Amino acid sequence: MGTETFRITREQAELYEERFVPALFRNWVDLVLDGAGVHTGQRLLDVACGTGVVARSAADRVGSTGAVIGLDLNPAMLAVARDVRPELDWRAGDAGEIPFADDDFDVVTCQAGLMFFPDPTAALREMGRVTRPGGVVAVQVFSALSSQPAYGPWIEMVARHAGAVATEMLGTYWVHGDPGALRARCTDAGLRVVAQHDDVRPAYFPSVEAMVLTEVNATPLADRLQPAELRQILTESEHVLGRFRNSDRLEIPIAGYVLVATPT
Ligand SMILES: C[S@@+](CC[C@H](N)C(=O)[O-])C[C@H]1O[C@@H](n2cnc3c(N)ncnc32)[C@H](O)[C@@H]1O
Repeated sequence: MGTETFRITREQAELYEERFVPALFRNWVDLVLDGAGVHTGQRLLDVACGTGVVARSAADRVGSTGAVIGLDLNPAMLAVARDVRPELDWRAGDAGEIPFADDDFDVVTCQAGLMFFPDPTAALREMGRVTRPGGVVAVQVFSALSSQPAYGPWIEMVARHAGAVATEMLGTYWVHGDPGALRARCTDAGLRVVAQHDDVRPAYFPSVEAMVLTEVNATPLADRLQPAELRQILTESEHVLGRFRNSDRLEIPIAGYVLVATPT
């Protein structure tokens, strides 16, 4: 997934649901929903819901006496979400201007979304605004590149071949990696952080080559690399990532965390 996720096509949204959700995003859902203490009867908004992996699981938890709404900017992601779970409420909208009234929800979740928002503090403020007093906002992001056991050394190696620009191009996922900085943003947004849950969870790829091509093709790096450079990167990736091979697939550890906050 690159930096332009919110412009993706229907085909890419289907690929996201079929490949990336089981490979990575599904693995973080329970940390978000447990962190937020989601239970029967609650009204929950999932911001940047994508194809709906968090919202679907939340709907199972809140049951028929609760309600879940998934909000996303991208119509293709929402169309796939609707196909998978037509009975849930999927809405188009911007995290920076959430189309709901003040205090409307018990819980607001946002998994792997914050890094794409042009003004993350404004989005956090919006999440707090639509959460009732005493309600919960739970935001999941990935840790800094320096704490990533696989992506850290891998991106360092790619940057040796493709230049420092590669670090930036492959860097979107780690921009909120400093929990202190994100906590400060929450405070600025009128949220009080009550808990932080750190964890390392796997991302699955069929092979080292599949992982490298996925990452490279999701960014403008694909156009910058000469075929010989890409071949070299593929060869060295086997050295850097080979130790994460587990039986017949690659199991890359990803460090991330969830901040749980309440409106002040
Ligand atoms: C990596 S996906 C995460 C989706 C989902 N939360 C999950 O865990 O699978 C990021 C999502 O953020 C959405 N997004 C990006 N900018 C947004 C914005 N300003 N408002 C709402 N959604 C946005 C994208 O359309 C995309 O669906």
